[in-house]
Amino acid sequence: MEISNVIKQKKKEEEMEVDEILAMLEKVKDASHGDVYFYSYQGFWIHDFDLKGIISFQTQFEARDDDILLASCPKSGTTWLKSLVFAIVNRAHHNCATYSNNNNDSPLFTTNPHNLIPFHASSDFTSSTENMKPRLLSTHNPYPLLPPSIKSSGCKIVYICRNPLDLFVSLWYYNHKFWGDNEPHHLEEQFELFCKGIHIFGPFWDHILGFRKASLEMPHKILFLKFEDLKRDGVFFIRKMADFLGFSFSAEEENRGIPQEIEKLCSFEHLKNLDVNKTGKQSFGPSNSSYFRKGEVGDWVNHLTPEMAKRGKKLIQEKFEQSDITFEF
Ligand code: A3P
Repeated sequence: MEISNVIKQKKKEEEMEVDEILAMLEKVKDASHGDVYFYSYQGFWIHDFDLKGIISFQTQFEARDDDILLASCPKSGTTWLKSLVFAIVNRAHHNCATYSNNNNDSPLFTTNPHNLIPFHASSDFTSSTENMKPRLLSTHNPYPLLPPSIKSSGCKIVYICRNPLDLFVSLWYYNHKFWGDNEPHHLEEQFELFCKGIHIFGPFWDHILGFRKASLEMPHKILFLKFEDLKRDGVFFIRKMADFLGFSFSAEEENRGIPQEIEKLCSFEHLKNLDVNKTGKQSFGPSNSSYFRKGEVGDWVNHLTPEMAKRGKKLIQEKFEQSDITFEF
C-alpha cells in the first residue's frame, strides 16, 4: 500500500477506535450548548472532540528530559502561565530587559501565548515545538492521564490552579464565546453540573489534587502554583519559576530589573491590549481576545447568587479539607 494510503487507513482506524471508546463511556449533556455531551473518560469529563488528542498524547508522546510541560484545568490562568514561562525561558534570545523603553523584541508582542506554547493536541504542535530548546508544551490532561514518558523522564511540570468559583465564572463566559453564542446563559444549569464535577476536564478537585499530591511527592519535578499567588506577588513567583526550571536570574539581571520587566510584559493589561490579542484567532475557533476577559481575583462575587456561593464554598471546603490547599473568599 502507498504510504499516503497507509496513513489514511491508520487515521480511519484511530477514528473508529475513538467512536468505539465513546460508545462505551457514560455521557451527560453539556448545559452550555445544544447537542454537546461530556464523556467520562478515566474519571474525568471531556468532550468527544478532545478524546483523540488525549489518547494520542497519552500513548504516543515521547518526552525529552529537558521538556517543560505547563498543566492546568481550563480557565485557571493557562494563557498567563504560558506568557510568563515563555518570557523566562527565552529571555536570552529576546530583549525583555528593554520592555519599558519600547524596544522589546519578545514574540509575545506579536503572537498569542497559545501559539508560542501549543497544546499537545493542536494541529501545529509538532512543527512549532520541534526547534524549541527546551520544548515548551501544554496540556489540560489531569495527572493520571499524562503520558508515562513525562512521568519517567526529567521533564518538568508547572501546574497552575485557581479559586474554583472564579474558574467557574471564567469558564461560563468562555463557553458562550467558544460556541459562538451571543450571550452567556444557563448559569444555574452549568453551576449545577460544575458542583457535580461535570465540566471540561473536571472534577476540578481531582484535577487540582492529583497535581498537588504529585508535586508534594516530587517537588523537584512539579511546581504547583496558584493564580491568586501570582496576582499577589508576581515577581516572587517569576523568580521561583525561573529557579525551578533552571533559568535563575543572575545578579546582573536582578540589577536590571528583569523579573519586574517580565511581570509587566506578561501583565493582563499589557497582553490584552496588544493587536494580536485583540484581533487574532486560534486555529480551532476561539478569538484570542476570549483568553483575556477580566483577569481578576474574586469576580465570582458579581455573578453567583448568595445560595450558589454558599454551596460552592461548602463544596470546596469539603473537597480540599484533607489537603494543604486553601482558597480565600
Ligand atoms: P477571567 O475570565 O476571570 O478574566 P486560561 O488562560 O486558563 O484560559 O484562563 C483564562 C483566564 O485567565 C481569564 O480569566 C483571563 O482573563 C485570565 N488571564 C489571561 N491572561 C492573564 C494575565 N496575563 N494576567 C491575569 N489573568 C489573565
